[in-house]
Amino acid sequence: MCQEFDTETEDRLSNMAASGTSILITGGAGYLGSILVEMLVERGFSVTVYDNLSYTQNTLFNLFSSGKLKFIYGDVTDQKLMAKVMAEGKYDFIFPLAAVVGFPISEQKPEISWLTNHQAIVNLLKLRKSGQKIIFPNTNSGYGATTGEIFCTEESSLNPISTYGKSKAEAEKAIMASRDAITFRLATLFGFSPRMRTELMVNNFVWKAVTDKGVVLFERSFKRNFLHVRDAARAFMWAMINWEAMKNQIYNLGHPDYNLSKEELAKLIQREVPDFNIFYAEIGQDPDKRNYVVSTDKIRKTGFAFKYGLEDGVNELLEGYNAFKDFRFKNY
Ligand SMILES: NC(=O)c1ccc[n+]([C@@H]2O[C@H](COP(=O)([O-])OP(=O)(O)OC[C@H]3O[C@@H](n4cnc5c(N)ncnc54)[C@H](O)[C@@H]3O)[C@@H](O)[C@H]2O)c1
Repeated sequence: MCQEFDTETEDRLSNMAASGTSILITGGAGYLGSILVEMLVERGFSVTVYDNLSYTQNTLFNLFSSGKLKFIYGDVTDQKLMAKVMAEGKYDFIFPLAAVVGFPISEQKPEISWLTNHQAIVNLLKLRKSGQKIIFPNTNSGYGATTGEIFCTEESSLNPISTYGKSKAEAEKAIMASRDAITFRLATLFGFSPRMRTELMVNNFVWKAVTDKGVVLFERSFKRNFLHVRDAARAFMWAMINWEAMKNQIYNLGHPDYNLSKEELAKLIQREVPDFNIFYAEIGQDPDKRNYVVSTDKIRKTGFAFKYGLEDGVNELLEGYNAFKDFRFKNY
């Protein structure tokens, strides 16, 4: 097992697991889910994953021998099955990760996106028993088009323009109104996962560095915020053991050192891959018009410390892509 926290925090997690804490994770076979499930199972938590395997992913096979993982094949929009699962299971925590994730696929499938990303959450809230704690990942893309200079805090308004951003923002509203919940507004994640997503910006630029040796940048100065997928998973565990102090709050979750423009990100990758060529285009627009910098003071004030840097992630991606040049996984 990889030690993710100091010994005292790891001990608290082990004690919580030993006391029989049980977790339901919808979408647990996905990019973030499969990392999070592994971390929890390794620490002895009982985890139930509910997923419709949208991408025929087989990301959890190595975890069944733990005896701690149960898998339910199902769709979160299946109200009957969800009602059965929620009635039968004793879940202390629920992590609703299942979603149609990202701008392109949610525009291709708006109805399914609303049903999965919002309606299924409303349904879940109706089925939740008193005392069950929810930790929900929203996207921070709803901070959207700003000047890119003023830090967005959790008090800044979300003005999502994509179906993805809007449906997730409505889900966040419903979840926070129902209490006993924490929302993380996540930055764009990066790093390897058993269920890979090569369309995420860092993963994508490094993929291009390995395969095309070049990238064409439009809106080169537009900024966004990044976070290693393992730090995202660590934050869920951090919130579990700091529940009383953190509950009923929204936290921005992105690495404080990585509010970067596309050009800054590409140049950082170029330092690791010197023959990576960066070209600039004066035309082209991000469909979700993202340009923002995000404050992560609030989560850091809880004592949460980020562990994984962008350089670590780039090198991890280079290593992996060079090993498996022929693969390509994305959400559209
Ligand atoms: N990856 C990021 O950069 C990022 C950023 C912000 C927020 N998030 C949020 O984190 C969560 C996980 O994202 P991810 O990157 O792991 O995406 P992903 O697409 O890899 O995972 C989504 C998972 O949900 C499952 N799923 C989809 N529709 C379902 C349905 N109707 N019923 C049951 N299961 C279904 C998929 O099979 C998949 O395993 C999402 O809620 C997403 O909005 C991710």
